[in-house]
Amino acid sequence: MVAVAILAAGRGTRMKSDLPKVLHELGGRTLVQRVLESCVPLHPCRRLVIVGYGADLVRNSLQQTDAIVNEQNQQPTLEFVEQKQQLGTGHAIQQLLPHLTDFTGDLLVLNGDVPLLRPDTLEQLINIHKEHGNAATLLAAHLPKPTGYGRVFCDSKNLVKQIVEERDCTDAQRKNHRINAGVYCFNWPKLAEILPQLKADNDQQEYYLTDTVHLLEQVMAVDVDDYREILGINSRQHLANAYHVLQDWVKTNWMAAGVTMIDPDSITIDDTVQLEPDVILEPQTHLRGNTIIQAGSHIGPGSLIENSQLGKNVTVQFSVVSDSIVADETRIGPYAHLRGHANVGQGCRIGNFVELKNAEVGNATNIAHLSYLGDATLGDKVNIGAGTITANYDGVKKHRTIIGDRTKTGSNSVLVAPLTLGTDVTVAAGSIVTDDVPDDSLVIARERQVIKPGWRLPSQ
Ligand code: UD1
Ligand code: CA
Repeated sequence: MVAVAILAAGRGTRMKSDLPKVLHELGGRTLVQRVLESCVPLHPCRRLVIVGYGADLVRNSLQQTDAIVNEQNQQPTLEFVEQKQQLGTGHAIQQLLPHLTDFTGDLLVLNGDVPLLRPDTLEQLINIHKEHGNAATLLAAHLPKPTGYGRVFCDSKNLVKQIVEERDCTDAQRKNHRINAGVYCFNWPKLAEILPQLKADNDQQEYYLTDTVHLLEQVMAVDVDDYREILGINSRQHLANAYHVLQDWVKTNWMAAGVTMIDPDSITIDDTVQLEPDVILEPQTHLRGNTIIQAGSHIGPGSLIENSQLGKNVTVQFSVVSDSIVADETRIGPYAHLRGHANVGQGCRIGNFVELKNAEVGNATNIAHLSYLGDATLGDKVNIGAGTITANYDGVKKHRTIIGDRTKTGSNSVLVAPLTLGTDVTVAAGSIVTDDVPDDSLVIARERQVIKPGWRLPSQ
């Protein structure tokens, strides 16, 4: 049985921010949310988060995001434990004592600011911990630049003798590049017994969790294969570096899975995005959130797709697609904006300077130039003329426009909602249509042209 505790009470002074450090975002998710999600496959029996600085903010943020993740994962309810004064990582874990009195399993402790951990690594840590019957097992890594991390000193069997924070290191100790990742698996009853004995006799006068290694019988270090996994975030520079690492992993994976990227350095992809083989991504393309793109689609250059689903062989050029669905073979852009649950059918063309908001569009429908269609439902094979606008807002409420199959609107039509145009309707160019139009009709709603033969400007 494994319980998880996440250290998230510190302010993160080096971030120079009012926002608690663990709430800074990395690729669309907060640091602490990422840490929490790395534990999902472990099926922990308890999940405790130690909060302090900005406790309410951290609690609210985690409760919101966790509810979404938890719809599928059925994790135990998050328990928040408050550490009123931040007197160090050891002090933070001391706050768990009254909450885990009857707990006899292992406690996995994670720093809330170490966001790139892989679940496999955690599983491996727990397995080694159990196999060896250790009192504690911790993750270590050899870093090329170990500045800022605690250094781990082991004997030849990887049993930890000492962890010394960098600020407490001698010059000789600082030369050791084997660092403490801030990820530990403890035998909880053994840890609980010695926790009250921690002393704050160090440079920061804090109670260090790392000092528990002196008090526990068998503590083992396990090195991670890829040190980038355990990079801790203490500054904005670290945050930017971690983003870089994440992007590198994500893009390498998708390329190996058959996605073409033209100039990958200019492309960003959240790790929540799903792609199929033969997707082509052009420069300056950004894929965010829960986006899914199917085989053969060609995205970019210069496009942002967020929380959207694109079918097969869709093309998107210089456009923004948010919270929307686009079916197979549809062409978007250049310079289109789909948002607010636009749902576009197959084989459509959504062209230059077209905005769709909360619009349902059938199959083989064209909206090629300069249109705004908001709160609209369009059938199949509709042709929307250049400059057609739905006037969906009367200043108080939004209203819907319904356009039947094969209907065509002339250029510069204004469709004043609520409005229904039937099937096979033709709207004359420049019309302002305010009343419903039955099937198979032509509607002309504009002033008739007047010609005055022989008329000239009066001479002055
Ligand atoms: C810690 C480790 C260090 C390790 C590094 C890895 C200690 C003493 N040092 O140092 O050996 O190399 O992590 O990233 O543990 N926190 C609390 N309450 C507190 C203090 C901190 O909850 O009173 C939380 C912070 O919010 C943060 C985590 O603990 O999420 C780590 O704290 P931080 O101050 O960043 O520790 P480091 O100096 O990085
Ligand atoms: Ca840290």
